[in-house]
Amino acid sequence: MVEDMCFLYKDILVIKPPKKSPMLLRTAVFMFSMVSVIFIFYVCRKQIGTEVRTKFMDLNVIDNLTRSIVKQTHIPDILHYPEPLSFNRNECAPNPVMFFAILSNQRSGSGWFETLLNSHINVSSNGEIFSVRERRQNASSILQTLDRVYNLDWLSSASKNECSAAIGFKWMLNQGLMEHHNEIEEYFKRRSVSVIFLFRRNLLRRMVSMLANSYDRYAKLLNGTHKSHVHSAEEADILSKYKPVINSTSLLVDLKDMETKAEKALKYFNSSRHMILYYEDLMRNHTKLNDVQEFLGLPQMELTSRQVKIHKGPLSDHIQNWDDVNKTLTGTVYESFLEADY
Ligand SMILES: *[C@@H]1O[C@H](CO)[C@@H](O)[C@H](O)[C@H]1NC(C)=O
Ligand SMILES: *[C@@H]1O[C@H](CO)[C@@H](O)[C@H](O)[C@H]1NC(C)=O
Ligand SMILES: *[C@@H]1O[C@H](CO)[C@@H](O)[C@H](O)[C@H]1NC(C)=O
Ligand SMILES: *[C@@H]1O[C@H](CO)[C@@H](O)[C@H](O)[C@H]1NC(C)=O
Ligand SMILES: *[C@@H]1O[C@H](CO)[C@@H](O)[C@H](O)[C@H]1NC(C)=O
Ligand SMILES: *[C@@H]1O[C@H](CO)[C@@H](O)[C@H](O)[C@H]1NC(C)=O
Ligand SMILES: *[C@@H]1O[C@H](CO)[C@@H](O)[C@H](O)[C@H]1NC(C)=O
Ligand SMILES: *[C@@H]1O[C@H](CO)[C@@H](O)[C@H](O)[C@H]1NC(C)=O
Repeated sequence: MVEDMCFLYKDILVIKPPKKSPMLLRTAVFMFSMVSVIFIFYVCRKQIGTEVRTKFMDLNVIDNLTRSIVKQTHIPDILHYPEPLSFNRNECAPNPVMFFAILSNQRSGSGWFETLLNSHINVSSNGEIFSVRERRQNASSILQTLDRVYNLDWLSSASKNECSAAIGFKWMLNQGLMEHHNEIEEYFKRRSVSVIFLFRRNLLRRMVSMLANSYDRYAKLLNGTHKSHVHSAEEADILSKYKPVINSTSLLVDLKDMETKAEKALKYFNSSRHMILYYEDLMRNHTKLNDVQEFLGLPQMELTSRQVKIHKGPLSDHIQNWDDVNKTLTGTVYESFLEADY
């Protein structure tokens, strides 16, 4: 019964008032939706909570809630008309621009996700601009860099220049974002920057990818060049031949650390307009990309990427000390990481 009600309320949530309805009605629908959100949160949380075992997986619930809230944001209020110094927007000057930032961690599919976004004719996602230390030295150098990006004056290979309808970049949590979160959150709100959180559920897979990637930095398995992302099955095969050893002594603590960081980021930026994406969901279901395009106020397009996944198949094939890792995680909240795909 309660379960039915929860689903009923979830459905009601996505009802949008007709655009031309009287103000009073729109307000009423809006108020009702807000009450519903609170209702779901308090009544359904318990019921949903039994399905999820770790706190991190609770993000799923937040995800569903924010998706409903996102739908109520009035997009025209958060669009911009930048006037870049470095070029003229010409015939696209009357087109509005959405500002966004992808907040993610290394080896969580953000490179792949960004190539997908950049395949859209109206998206310019400028890569990891804060990987350069001077740009994240202090809050003022960060904000200056942001100003340049959102003024369309950041020129990179991804720039679509005059006809960008969404402009942004990807930002790793360990690139000054957490240290200066107060100033950045204030900036995001003041300039209506929309945040896309991109996380990976299976943190053990993320760990394998990180270890293999940092190994390749020195080993340079692909004919003497280091590659973090590949475009062919052969290259993926070569890179995945290296099997890292995972420190099983610190494994549980390390996984917990990764979770805590993601939770913190969510907390810091929870009052910005945002959506939460999971790498695994994107892999399984490409239609999720339509949600992203809707979130960014873009005309819908088929998005494509040439990148190929490096570590495929069961994790036991990719970890040298699999038995240790299996033993360490069996019976813990992380046990499912041993089995899951992607
Ligand atoms: C969130 O919504 C998806 C469908 O969009 C559903 O499959 C999933 O079970 C929901 N998660 C929770 C925790 O309610
Ligand atoms: C911030 O860092 C930049 C260089 O990255 C430096 O030029 C500037 O003086 C610094 N500002 C403050 C207030 O420390
Ligand atoms: C997208 O880009 C195309 C080609 O550059 C342009 O004609 C169109 O107006 C742009 N659309 C938006 C919504 O900016
Ligand atoms: C490495 O070099 C050889 C010979 O030059 C070439 O055939 C092969 O395709 C290269 N492999 C990769 C992964 O680039
Ligand atoms: C594994 O982790 C433990 C605990 O953090 C540490 O003491 C040990 O040196 C690590 N072992 C290796 C090989 O890095
Ligand atoms: C956002 O995070 C703050 C703590 O930093 C918390 O007090 C607040 O309840 C959170 N809001 C939402 C909507 O989760
Ligand atoms: C795929 O994602 C779309 C958009 O979020 C959703 O509507 C659909 O139900 C999903 N399909 C599956 C099989 O999960
Ligand atoms: C983990 O170890 C147990 C006991 O040895 C075994 O039954 C199980 O299949 C292993 N799990 C995986 C995913 O290899």
